[in-house]
Amino acid sequence: VTEQFNAVVVEQVGDRAEAQLRRLALSDLPEGEVLVRVSHSSVNYKDALLLNGNRNKVARSLPMVPGIDLAGSVVSSASDRWIPGDQVMANGWGLGEVHWGGLSEYQRVSASWLQPLPEVFTAQQAMAIGTAGYTAALCVLDLETRGGLQRGDRVLVTGASGGVGSVSVALLAAAGYRVVASTGSTESHDYLKQLGAEEILDRSELAEEGRPLQKEEWQGAVDTVGGLTLANVLARTAYGRAVAACGLAGGAQLPGTVLPHIIRGVALLGVDSVMAPVRRRLAAWERLARDLDPRTVDEVSRTEPLERAVEVGQELLSGSVTGRIVISVSEEGR
Ligand SMILES: NC(=O)c1ccc[n+]([C@@H]2O[C@H](COP(=O)([O-])OP(=O)(O)OC[C@H]3O[C@@H](n4cnc5c(N)ncnc54)[C@H](OP(=O)(O)O)[C@@H]3O)[C@@H](O)[C@H]2O)c1
Repeated sequence: VTEQFNAVVVEQVGDRAEAQLRRLALSDLPEGEVLVRVSHSSVNYKDALLLNGNRNKVARSLPMVPGIDLAGSVVSSASDRWIPGDQVMANGWGLGEVHWGGLSEYQRVSASWLQPLPEVFTAQQAMAIGTAGYTAALCVLDLETRGGLQRGDRVLVTGASGGVGSVSVALLAAAGYRVVASTGSTESHDYLKQLGAEEILDRSELAEEGRPLQKEEWQGAVDTVGGLTLANVLARTAYGRAVAACGLAGGAQLPGTVLPHIIRGVALLGVDSVMAPVRRRLAAWERLARDLDPRTVDEVSRTEPLERAVEVGQELLSGSVTGRIVISVSEEGR
């Protein structure tokens, strides 16, 4: 173990929070049963907010190391669940929000947050999937088990070119559903079709206030956008079916009516990845391993060094990113 190592730390500078590359020692790290040599992390929407100094919605306290996902190998463990050399990963659990996260060459975490790296994916691919992909899998599983989805059904994905959206499109198409991808990015149409989308819907069509009940267009939906978009998605969902809502890229409001729910029995399934129980995590990663071709994972992601994390965060917030960004955190990851 090296004496000093690199980490991105968000600190209070005057009246604002600022992300900087810092040299840390192991003694700087928080407490935790397992010391992990982090090879890769990723940049999710929450990470991007924090990297840009917008801590209010993300970090409980400062200083904070961003990175809600991490993958790497166990260096030492006070728990008998893990031994040195184990290849592990963690998604959520408050990493990069309440506890220091993945943008650090070493991190200490609780033994119960770790799960084995799935055999079919490298650490880089697991982080390319990351919280975004695992959340997409949670949404698809919920639509199947609680939303009555059947093979051949039409399923909408909003924010389709984003991290959660891209993987949702790929997983739904692989499982035999007909995917309608809603996007605001015209450059992403080919990309979304390659992932398996049959139809593209311009996101402006869902962005204006509409009638509380509209023509039934799909038998299920994964919504990453929220706001008026979600209200319109619910108003166009078929009788007795469901919408899995996991995001707020377009707003946290839900300016709709109860009519889709009480007239059409449409269910709104809330999906959380951060504190999801281990049983659901394992099921989600099993689906990802089954239906997501590692080559597709490589195609929809790019890898950047730790030093570029802040710039990458800005890029993500500007809306110009398609797919997923992996951060290679330590030399092991290069
Ligand atoms: N519940 C959970 O546990 C959980 C887990 C992961 C993520 N999330 C949330 O899910 C959302 C998506 O995350 P992500 O990592 O996929 O983010 P992302 O990669 O930034 O993707 C978000 C996508 O939403 C669309 N979008 C952005 N701004 C919009 C706007 N103003 N109106 C309509 N559409 C807009 C864009 O897609 P197009 O260009 O294709 O339109 C964008 O690519 C975020 O709100 C995130 O916080 C929640």
